[in-house]
Amino acid sequence: MTILLIGGGGREHAIATALAASRHKPTLYAAPGNAGIAQLATCLPIAATDLDTLCDWAVKNQPDLVFVAPDDPLALGLVDRLEQLGIAAFGPRANAAMLESSKVFSKGFMQQYNIPTAAYATFDNEEDALAYLKSQPTPIVIKADGLALGKGVIIAQTPDEAEAAVLSMMRDGAFGASGSRVVIEECMTGPEVTVLAFTDGTTVVPMPASQDHKRAFDGDKGPNTGGMGAICPSPHYTPELAERCMKTIFQPTIDGMAAEGRPFKGVIYFGLMLTPDGPKVIEYNARFGDPETQVILPLLDSDLVDICHATINGTLADLPVRWRNSAAACVVLASGGYPGSYAKGLPITGLDEVHNATVYHAGTALKDGALVTNGGRVLGITALADNLPEALANAYTALRPIHFDGMFCRHDIGRL
Ligand code: AMP
Ligand code: GLY
Repeated sequence: MTILLIGGGGREHAIATALAASRHKPTLYAAPGNAGIAQLATCLPIAATDLDTLCDWAVKNQPDLVFVAPDDPLALGLVDRLEQLGIAAFGPRANAAMLESSKVFSKGFMQQYNIPTAAYATFDNEEDALAYLKSQPTPIVIKADGLALGKGVIIAQTPDEAEAAVLSMMRDGAFGASGSRVVIEECMTGPEVTVLAFTDGTTVVPMPASQDHKRAFDGDKGPNTGGMGAICPSPHYTPELAERCMKTIFQPTIDGMAAEGRPFKGVIYFGLMLTPDGPKVIEYNARFGDPETQVILPLLDSDLVDICHATINGTLADLPVRWRNSAAACVVLASGGYPGSYAKGLPITGLDEVHNATVYHAGTALKDGALVTNGGRVLGITALADNLPEALANAYTALRPIHFDGMFCRHDIGRL
């Protein structure tokens, strides 16, 4: 069996690890992969967004499965194109990936299907947006419509900040075309929980709940990032909440997408806020989260390849999906300057001395045989234990020997 994995971050290293552990013993390829994935797969120098070259490779090599992990190729329709070529692809088609790639679409969808979310309005011109702001209390949330690497969200504390946020998106193009339409929404309060679920378009199989930490610095300070660490399971997520979310959010979402003629297959990511009025959706993503995947997949006790095939074939209801009864914690080691500009190509040392944890590579590369930094989030250190405090302690102990110039991490992952 041959599998092509699209992507090259920490999430993909965790996915590659789970695929490599399959009873099908697949031969793995990754595009573009990274230095960690290269230990499990043959890395192809093809960008995840280069759909033509990826499809050419697939036609020539006829993989049994293409696993599309990142948001961009999903939004661009890589799964649609592979299906047209008769190649099995894991992930939603572009018309379902819109749940992530357009906040205007996802908010309208939730409104139509009565899925609880923050009250909102959308705007495609700045005069109307600014006029609306005058009628609203602060804090208030301003979001760019399209994909913005999880960074297109501003929580404005004052009317001035709100106005500046709208102008930076709509007039100055801070998020490019993604900001030409904005969503302005009510600011919700409460703990955040992420629930990922496998779905074949009909059946929803939630994974254990997790939580990531999006701000760059300790105490939830600093700019939003792709995610600086994660824990699983989330202590906030009780069985009662799980039942309520299944009834009011998860199943209605999958049923609604099917009713819209946009059946969602793959992994759906529910970013939830546990508000005083009950759980509400902050956002959907159309894929595994990063770094959430680095704490979820190590707990999977079933064969990921079997799950992928059941998801594609619509037979998820017949497949038991089991999880280990453990806790996992992941701490991200990032390049100095991230999420702003940062250096690349700095030597990484100390990985040989890491014990009792898994090192997932995110932004790494090999230069003349030596491991160097190649991105903002460089490594994710994941440790497991019987409970969360021990998993966190193990992760923080394990990362001590690791070094690269400018390296930083959050010291309060998992402290809620
Ligand atoms: P998003 O990219 O939509 O997940 O937003 C990034 C982060 O902004 C979320 O993880 C929340 O912490 C915060 N956020 C987004 N929308 C809201 C909202 N309506 N109320 C409060 N916080 C929000
Ligand atoms: N960690 C957030 C995301 O993957 O979108």
